[in-house]
Amino acid sequence: MHTEPILKVENVVKKFGEITALDGVSINVNRGEIVCFLGPSGCGKTTLLRVIGGFYDQDAGDVTLDGDLINGIPPEKRDTVMFFQNYALFPHMTVFENVTYGLRVRRVPREKMKSQAEEILALIQLEGMEDRFPNQLSGGQQQRVALARALILNPKLLLLDEPLSNLDAKLRSYMREEIIKIRENLNLTIIFVTHDQEEAMSIADKIAVMKSGVIEQIGRPVDIYRYPESTYVANFVGSANFLKATVTGSDQQGSVEIDTKMGSLKMTAPPKSYSVGDRLVAVIRPESIKISFDNNVNSSSMLQGEILRGSYLGSQMIYTIRVREEVITVNVPDPKEDQIRGIGDTVCLILPEYIHLIDAEKAGDLGD
Ligand SMILES: Nc1ncnc2c1ncn2[C@@H]1O[C@H](COP(=O)(O)OP(=O)(O)O)[C@@H](O)[C@H]1O
Ligand SMILES: [Mg+2]
Repeated sequence: MHTEPILKVENVVKKFGEITALDGVSINVNRGEIVCFLGPSGCGKTTLLRVIGGFYDQDAGDVTLDGDLINGIPPEKRDTVMFFQNYALFPHMTVFENVTYGLRVRRVPREKMKSQAEEILALIQLEGMEDRFPNQLSGGQQQRVALARALILNPKLLLLDEPLSNLDAKLRSYMREEIIKIRENLNLTIIFVTHDQEEAMSIADKIAVMKSGVIEQIGRPVDIYRYPESTYVANFVGSANFLKATVTGSDQQGSVEIDTKMGSLKMTAPPKSYSVGDRLVAVIRPESIKISFDNNVNSSSMLQGEILRGSYLGSQMIYTIRVREEVITVNVPDPKEDQIRGIGDTVCLILPEYIHLIDAEKAGDLGD
């Protein structure tokens, strides 16, 4: 078993004149993983992918692929293949010629080329289309031919730069499934760049959230969503309520008491010790707060809130609610008619037992 990461990126810096596109990036990618680089336009995703693929030389830092340091090695001499955003096929070449282009460049014998092409075309369900030209294919089929052209080179690492951003929604979700299947069938390692959080969440084993040339956080989608280390990461995957908090008490059983503008809250804390006076930010997802629509319930652990606004979206109701000095967002999934409340109505709120806490100095901008 190879337990070493297939790719190691260590302290990579890349500058374009005055602009520092990558400001000391480190990441390990394990064999067979799909890793997504997620972040807004201009944060350095493409630059990082291009450094890994050998299209840019970094100014500092190391890239190691399968145990070999590959700094300065040109793209065609690396076991990586990059699939560009505009996946243009050669229009005057047939599907077969397009798919086997890279093999011809590498002077692979014709018989071997044919059998490999058959295999890969079967994998992406394009058998029998060998002799067609790109203009005789649908957009989705063209996309798959382009993917086959990359896959046939049997790379150790497949680099995809926003491969689905030009497709309509239906084709996009179909191609996501294709990519996951291909990964399983070929046991490929894939790095996938996207600015779309839903795409990243649905396809990735690990997400690296990037911000201005650095990786803010790397983790499984569930880690990124449930345990964000900054407000930036929390906001990039979904939305969240951020409450400024000060620790007023904690015990050995893992519960902590905090003071917020909503009042004093007692809850299960992460496995970390807190001291009275620590300044924190509590992160509460809108769907993890429940509204008690049963007016008879009146437990002391409940908070009372006043509805400021409600938006009915069919699959969910989004309420803006004032709780003492704080205003929060609460989502009610699958709202029934008797769960729709008007402005000014009072409701009881049930907070989740576990609330994610971030140290205030690491949290970043609260947006208020
Ligand atoms: N070839 C280049 N020349 C000059 N600046 C570049 C070049 N490529 C990228 N940049 C700059 O580097 C930063 C990161 O760009 P990029 O990696 O393309 O971001 P992303 O892919 O996340 O949108 C941006 O500020 C961008 O303007
Ligand atoms: Mg880009």
